[in-house]
Amino acid sequence: MYINLSGLNVLVTGASRGIGKAIATKLAEAGATIAIHYNKNVREAENLAHILGNESKAFQADLSQPKEAANLFDRIILEMGSIEVLINNAGIAIPAPIQSPEEDWQNAWDTTMTVNLTSSAILCKMAVDHFLKRKSAGRIINISSRAAFRGDQAEYLAYAASKAGLVSITKSIARAYGKDGIKAFVVAPGFVRTDMAQEFVEMYGEDHTKSDVALERLTEPKDLAPLVTFIASGMVDHSTGSTFDVNAGSYMH
Ligand SMILES: NC(=O)c1ccc[n+]([C@@H]2O[C@H](COP(=O)([O-])OP(=O)(O)OC[C@H]3O[C@@H](n4cnc5c(N)ncnc54)[C@H](OP(=O)(O)O)[C@@H]3O)[C@@H](O)[C@H]2O)c1
Repeated sequence: MYINLSGLNVLVTGASRGIGKAIATKLAEAGATIAIHYNKNVREAENLAHILGNESKAFQADLSQPKEAANLFDRIILEMGSIEVLINNAGIAIPAPIQSPEEDWQNAWDTTMTVNLTSSAILCKMAVDHFLKRKSAGRIINISSRAAFRGDQAEYLAYAASKAGLVSITKSIARAYGKDGIKAFVVAPGFVRTDMAQEFVEMYGEDHTKSDVALERLTEPKDLAPLVTFIASGMVDHSTGSTFDVNAGSYMH
């Protein structure tokens, strides 16, 4: 089977590092042009654009500011003309122990919700609007988490809630706009070796993290990228609204 994504512009948020970078790289290998979104790591994002070549470009936006999410989408359309696939991957996990002062706890909650849910929802809204105006097929792939289904540690309440919100947004879009040619999917990783996961390993230890999974090693970004590329290709459109688990057998529905 051969996947050819040439002619498709794909926005990958949080593509400067980790899972997003692996996804952007695999999509570009299949011929897609990537809008490489980043927040702070301009050098990594610009470098990736250079490596991918094929007119892929880096775009900055701080998604803790919802206005920047909308502005990001507009800038990409202005520069690239269209987006055919949106991949909401950027995310944060801020630990906030239950014993934290209320204000600190709420700040962590608000920032997590804004980056992981509100800004992702704004990008979904703008993508759906864009697909409808162009009367074109479009795909949205939201990177959620096992935590949306299984729950998370006590200090990551906001994280799990934000990821669960993303699942329900995805299902609603899939139900509402399927007849307009718009499909929406969730990919739900378990633990993946990235900078985000490093904080968890430091807190809970490598052995505890590994004991959770059924496979012989922890998931890496490269284990997710082919699945996302496959979904982006349209070959699994009849799974619209579904969640694809990638958690090394650590949580099965
Ligand atoms: N790693 C895991 O174990 C795991 C498990 C389940 C789900 N996930 C989900 O997978 C996705 C990617 O995670 P990852 O592990 O690859 O994370 P990561 O290595 O920490 O990378 C996070 C990415 O998000 C961007 N980002 C962070 N804060 C941002 C902000 N305020 N505004 C805009 N962009 C921001 C970063 O951009 P800059 O570097 O440019 O600042 C970076 O590209 C996330 O949604 C995460 O929740 C991860």
